[in-house]
Amino acid sequence: MRIPLLGHSVDLARDPLGFTRSLRDRGEVTTIFIGPRPVLVVTSVDLIRAVLVTEARKFDKGAMFDELRTHLGNGLVTSAGSFHRRQRRLAQPAFHWDRISGYADVMTARTVDSLASWSPGKPVELTAHLNRLTLDVLLDVLFGSDRNAMLDKSITAWLSIRQKATKRALSPVAAWVDRLRLRRESGRPAAGQDEKAVLCATLAELIERRRAGGDDDDLLSMLLSANNDDGSERMSNAEVCDELLTMFVAGTGTMSATLAWTWHELSRHPEIEKHLHREVDTVLMGRAATISDLPELSYTRRVAQEVLRLHPVWLLMRRALEPVAIGEIRLDPGDDVYFSPHALHRDPALYPAPERFDPDRWLPERSGDLPRFAYIPFGAGNRLCIGEGWAWTELVIVIATIAARWRLVPEPGFRPKTRVGTVERPHRLPMIPEARGLPRD
Ligand code: HEM
Repeated sequence: MRIPLLGHSVDLARDPLGFTRSLRDRGEVTTIFIGPRPVLVVTSVDLIRAVLVTEARKFDKGAMFDELRTHLGNGLVTSAGSFHRRQRRLAQPAFHWDRISGYADVMTARTVDSLASWSPGKPVELTAHLNRLTLDVLLDVLFGSDRNAMLDKSITAWLSIRQKATKRALSPVAAWVDRLRLRRESGRPAAGQDEKAVLCATLAELIERRRAGGDDDDLLSMLLSANNDDGSERMSNAEVCDELLTMFVAGTGTMSATLAWTWHELSRHPEIEKHLHREVDTVLMGRAATISDLPELSYTRRVAQEVLRLHPVWLLMRRALEPVAIGEIRLDPGDDVYFSPHALHRDPALYPAPERFDPDRWLPERSGDLPRFAYIPFGAGNRLCIGEGWAWTELVIVIATIAARWRLVPEPGFRPKTRVGTVERPHRLPMIPEARGLPRD
């Protein structure tokens, strides 16, 4: 409902997921009001493809990401235009498949370590556990043996303050409140700037040491050694620092939310959980999963695929840089357009029984007719998630390794509360581990 002055902000704040799902009933393009400001929302595969792929060069990322830039600097998520293209080209080799297969050993080892603290019947708060695990994997992959207590402490301090600030930055309502200057300027620096300064100083020291002391076999070394073919262009220390801050955020919250939803869905679908157990028992016989098991773990992958269909990023946006036609609509420079992977993935015209958790809908014979951009958990086009291959690898390794040894039962009567930022996540997920009686390695 549009309220004078507030527009649809109340609907967006009260039931963000339900509200964006309801917009498809208004057609493939519709206007909503954030405060007095009209914003376009595209709801169909064709128009989302136009924004992300065919007309992508006519857009940058928009108000939500302007706000995020005050926290993350100008890394891959927030940068635009030729600077983004250059950073992406320099960072890309660190995410090639041959590198990811090296990172996979860390994923396996860290998952096994994290399970050492579990005992049968002793409740685990799964969201906190998975936040820690995914951050540990990322930091090991980034810094290898240079990881130390000081670095961990400054990253954790910055992340915990930043989490609240980023959540606000990624709220479409907050972005427009700021843009419309409905919030009084306080003159105070954004939250977390002190912690960011400490962290950046620690990272700068580490980067300098690395530049002086030669290469290591980790992601940081890849970023430092990346250059143009003629060796002319490298990232500066400040640019590397912004890319690291970006990865601390982009590579952890999305991963841990997807893993947490996996166990929530498995606990509600015992037949699917049994099917998963049958697969991991056959392939792993109780041992931890490694990268060479991935081709055999096809059901585990379908489970992850279905979790990312039902619980992807909620809302993303772009801002027109020049006049651009999207379907029948013409956007002027500065106009914003929103789209919701969450709503698209639950569109009954694309997915039969869209609310049903059904990993086998991803069998080739059942998913072959799905239009190419109907499934966009990692976005698409020139801003496609650089960590997609990493994410699939880590999801399958973590899910299979945990499921090979443990079954997780929800605490009786507990219903998770969904927190919606860009990513939709269960706020807390207390679960009780039951040991699965298989041989261990
Ligand atoms: C399940 C896990 C993940 C999900 C669902 C996810 C989702 C996404 C999405 C939807 C985008 C595009 C945003 C847009 O178009 O505005 C994106 C971009 C990005 N992601 Fe991921 N991501 C995941 C894991 C990761 C990991 C593990 C890393 C790095 C270690 C990562 C790093 C990035 C970066 C740097 C970008 C910006 C890319 C660019 O614009 O060039 N992500 N991610």
